[in-house]
Amino acid sequence: MKKELIIAVCSLTMIVALTACGPAVTGKTEGSSAQTMELENQKTSASVIHNPVGNSHKILIAYFTYPENTDAKAIHSDKYDVMASASLNARDGKAVGNNAVLAMYMAGKTGADTVSILTEKPYPESYDETVAQGKKEIENSELPALKTHVTDLSGYDTVILIYPNWWGTLPAPVQTFLHDTDLSGKNIYAVVTSGGSGFSDTIQLIQQLEPGASVKEGFALHHSDMADAEGAAQKWLETTGWLQ
Ligand SMILES: Cc1cc2nc3c(=O)[nH]c(=O)nc-3n(C[C@H](O)[C@H](O)[C@H](O)COP(=O)(O)O)c2cc1C
Repeated sequence: MKKELIIAVCSLTMIVALTACGPAVTGKTEGSSAQTMELENQKTSASVIHNPVGNSHKILIAYFTYPENTDAKAIHSDKYDVMASASLNARDGKAVGNNAVLAMYMAGKTGADTVSILTEKPYPESYDETVAQGKKEIENSELPALKTHVTDLSGYDTVILIYPNWWGTLPAPVQTFLHDTDLSGKNIYAVVTSGGSGFSDTIQLIQQLEPGASVKEGFALHHSDMADAEGAAQKWLETTGWLQ
């Protein structure tokens, strides 16, 4: 229990630090090619958080969550009313997005590495504006640029992809991630949180974007059931043989 808490706190602290550092790294396009290469390397290595307990099942958890993709100061303040939000949960004194809660719990239980799918340009501070922007992106088949890049997947057999249902499909940034990342030969387990839409067409879309991967349903969670998100994740993990 203590070990999981430490992992979760370390991972989240790193994510917050990486989010804060992101634009400084990715925003630079000038300079020598050596500098550019170094920045590219930082970008690559900064994306994946390696689990300090080891990753014997060779799992990468890739997740997307709105709160890590907005600069909304209210969300990142300790005054934010997490109880009134569909997307935020109080965990270890921090406000954490639904899909991050699942990612951190599963990483703690399996030893998996984690990567947060982060867009270059943050989503609006207003949740309603984000809902509208998410719709526009999907309608226009936009692929928003990411600051998350995973280039070396040789250490992984399995990818657990955790995402919210946005407008009955995969959020556009998750589509970008799958477009940019070759997961051929991997087993992909999809985990979705939503306000009731569940997986919708997402399994088919993931398979379409990753034709060389084997895509399977993990589990779907309603966002009103976040109070026992860990229980739902645990129940599914017990069927996988990955618990450490
Ligand atoms: C842009 C946007 C679109 C959404 N569209 C749907 C939807 O079509 N169906 C649904 O059930 N929930 C929808 N939701 C709700 C989210 O799927 C749900 O709250 C999810 O758990 C949020 O996860 P997060 O806190 O990790 O971002 C939407 C949320 C946003 C921000």
